Amino acid sequence: MDFKRTDYCGNIFSKKIGEKVTVCGWVQKQRDLGKLIFVDLRDRTGVVQLAFYEKNPKVFEQAFRLRAEFVVAASGFVCERSSKNPNIPTGDIEIEVEQLRVYSKAQTPPFEIVENSNAGEELRLKFRYLDLRRSDLSKNILIRHKMAKLARDYFNDNGFIEIETPFLIKSTPEGARDYLVPSRAFRGKFFALPQSPQLYKQLAMIAGFDRYMQIVKCFRDEDLRADRQPEFTQIDLEMSFVNSKDIMSMVEGFIVKLYKNIFNKDIAKPFFQMNYDDCMKKFGSDKPDLRFGMEIIHLTKLLKNTEFRVFSDIIKNKGLVCAINAKGACDKFSRKDIDKLSGWIVAHGVRAISFTKSDKNKNSSSSYEKFLSTEEVKNIRETSSFEPGDILFLVAHKNELTCLEAIGALRVKVAQIIDIKKSEISLLWVTNFPLFEYDKNQSTLIAKHHPFVAPKDEDLKFLETNPEKVRAEAFDLILNGNEIGGGSIRICDFNVQKRVLGCLGFSDEETKERFGFLLDAMQFGAPPHGGLALGFDRLIMILLGCENIREVIAFPKISTSSELMTSSPSVVCDDQLNELGIKLDKLENTN
Ligand code: AMO
Repeated sequence: MDFKRTDYCGNIFSKKIGEKVTVCGWVQKQRDLGKLIFVDLRDRTGVVQLAFYEKNPKVFEQAFRLRAEFVVAASGFVCERSSKNPNIPTGDIEIEVEQLRVYSKAQTPPFEIVENSNAGEELRLKFRYLDLRRSDLSKNILIRHKMAKLARDYFNDNGFIEIETPFLIKSTPEGARDYLVPSRAFRGKFFALPQSPQLYKQLAMIAGFDRYMQIVKCFRDEDLRADRQPEFTQIDLEMSFVNSKDIMSMVEGFIVKLYKNIFNKDIAKPFFQMNYDDCMKKFGSDKPDLRFGMEIIHLTKLLKNTEFRVFSDIIKNKGLVCAINAKGACDKFSRKDIDKLSGWIVAHGVRAISFTKSDKNKNSSSSYEKFLSTEEVKNIRETSSFEPGDILFLVAHKNELTCLEAIGALRVKVAQIIDIKKSEISLLWVTNFPLFEYDKNQSTLIAKHHPFVAPKDEDLKFLETNPEKVRAEAFDLILNGNEIGGGSIRICDFNVQKRVLGCLGFSDEETKERFGFLLDAMQFGAPPHGGLALGFDRLIMILLGCENIREVIAFPKISTSSELMTSSPSVVCDDQLNELGIKLDKLENTN
């Protein structure tokens, strides 16, 4: 008996009626109707109905014993169904089974393998191989495969070559903590897993490869969020003899192709661009979601002579007073809701939210208007186009950036609460980033992107005197308020690289020890170069409208950076540790 598969379950339609087929897969469900047994058989393409009749007692008897998740092969003729099922693509036909082979029995699974499962995520992650049998998840993995193939084809067609870079490397600072790997040969020394292949791709340019791409794993030990994983994948690019515009245009071509080929959507290029400063001023974010308005309204100038101490103290300290107007949303925010929002915003560094609301009948209430002059109230209302039915939220803080970031976060939160109507796609480039930012915790300058980004030529003169004024030749790609990619032109001059590392606090000795290989390379003929990396998982997550990045990764980690299916990380034996010369301190967390 030959059970060679002829067709996938999900691909058998009416035109096959009368043909003999063989399908293989997992039993979705079995329905015993007495003289007839139906079995839904599932593989990665979908489900097909198998019909077993009493007139064929051998297979009828076998079918009687089938249970969910048994693995079988079935051969038979494709027949038209008497009662069709319009809910599945193969709903017009069924296979009248003549021969059946059971390859593997299965225990009752810990959750039902169905679309939109309501089983808890922890349980599903523990049995991820079962979870991945669900079509809503397997569909994501199949689309991911298509997108990776499209990326390889697109960049290959544009002259890029795929070069693998090592995973055991010397630490490259990219802003997160490294995952370290101890060396057995050099006890006491460590490799780091790459946070990205940044320096290797630059070295590939110096080596003359001209255009590099790689779909590559990156490892960052940082706090996880819905759009972050400790190991994630980048579509990583680098190009020689180009400027920012060339790189952006190359990436735009890829995104346009992705939308067309995968979703049959036409996207216009070039994408919209906005300066970092404008983004911060208008939207309080360097990754603004432009699918809706609710721009920040600046009230600082208007209140510069106010006698209300809370605002005047802040303004005297060079702080800001900003507002957003949630138009027509007055009814959506009770006093209790506003208090809740006020509590929520504390995590963004400001003390509270002030508000004015007015219902459709012009009954208004406000937390601050009673402290302001009639003129000031009138001016604020006019400047913010405040009308009956609106609610105006105010945020003030003595630190400009803190104030902008807080009101930017509030803008997104309010849009979520009122379920604001959003257009479908907002793609934009954010440009003209500062090269450095101030790390409040450590009172030092840190690189806004990474230490290898080129400063704008015209700002080089401020490097030592006013580094916060230096702008970078960097650009981030934002999709619907999420950063899906970051890129830049790189420093390729030995002296500039040394100066930038100096600004970041690296002494000459440290620079030589940590980056000597790069600085050496720059002295053997470095072409002008630049590149970008797209967050592949994040891109798929947003394109597919998923809530969490885990939904597009076959075997993801949970928020503690552990993996539930294999229970890793795990304890290793003393012999392994001894070989590496590692002695453990008292264990605080052994779960
Ligand atoms: P950057 O650090 O901006 O740039 O990373 C590029 C993109 O990778 C995605 N990303 C992540 N996705 C999931 N989980 C994470 N923990 C995570 N961290 C980042 C984001 C981000 O835009 N070497 C530079 C690129 C370059 O300059 O060419 C780099 O890695 O979508």
